[in-house]
Amino acid sequence: SAYLKRKAPSDSLCFCVPPDNLLCQMDQRDTWDRFYAAKGDGAAGPRHFEWFFGYREIAGLLLTHLQGLPPGPARVLDVGCGTSGLGLGLLRDCPRRLRVSCLDFSPPAVATLRRLLRESPPPRHPLSRLRCHVADATRLAGAFPPRSFHLVLDKGTCDALLRGPRGPGRAGGLVAACLALLRPEGRLLQFSDEDPDARAPFLERAGGVPVAVQEVGCFGGIRYYAYILGPRQGCDETEEQQRQMHHHA
Ligand SMILES: C[S@@+](CC[C@H](N)C(=O)[O-])C[C@H]1O[C@@H](n2cnc3c(N)ncnc32)[C@H](O)[C@@H]1O
Repeated sequence: SAYLKRKAPSDSLCFCVPPDNLLCQMDQRDTWDRFYAAKGDGAAGPRHFEWFFGYREIAGLLLTHLQGLPPGPARVLDVGCGTSGLGLGLLRDCPRRLRVSCLDFSPPAVATLRRLLRESPPPRHPLSRLRCHVADATRLAGAFPPRSFHLVLDKGTCDALLRGPRGPGRAGGLVAACLALLRPEGRLLQFSDEDPDARAPFLERAGGVPVAVQEVGCFGGIRYYAYILGPRQGCDETEEQQRQMHHHA
């Protein structure tokens, strides 16, 4: 693909296949509520569920980005976090001070993540913190101050929105909303199995910024990509975000 700039080693094992009945209603909250409620806590207590792949597969990419930031606390948002271990993994491993926000619109998912947080080891940096939020990722304006995050992570959330009836419009709104939350040096990292020839032009249109693509690896025969976007320069992101959401609705 013309969009693929650099290859990463394919050395990972963790892989999850989406259940078939989820695939057609992945933008609906009650679909996810049922999904996460059914996963429940199980006999062994709360457990992470990972879409596509887990934290380990991208830990190097994420930690390298965080270590490259200027000194001071780094703010990270996992948008549509589900019960993924991305936020907790970063808290455990990152030597710098982090303020991690994990956001999902599904209360059962957030409840499980909160239980996992309570059981997790202390953060690597003693002042690092993780907070969980129940909120709609397509209505982020007002949820956090604009331009406040160094890293926004989206693993499977844009993909879920794209599968809904107003897919590209809602997913485009999500991308614009995430970009509006980025600090000037911040990055939105989207992880997906969608081919760069389809996803990169969509992201460029929705975000209005250049998109870099990096291959994450091939797990269970499926190739995954990291799509990397910076903030828009020189315009008011909040207005632009509202314009985008209105335009796509
Ligand atoms: C494919 S799953 C990915 C979950 C998690 N990021 C992972 O990697 O395992 C999509 C997630 O997005 C959440 N989601 C979908 N639409 C959302 C929305 N509008 N606002 C917030 N969360 C949403 C779902 O509840 C679900 O947890």
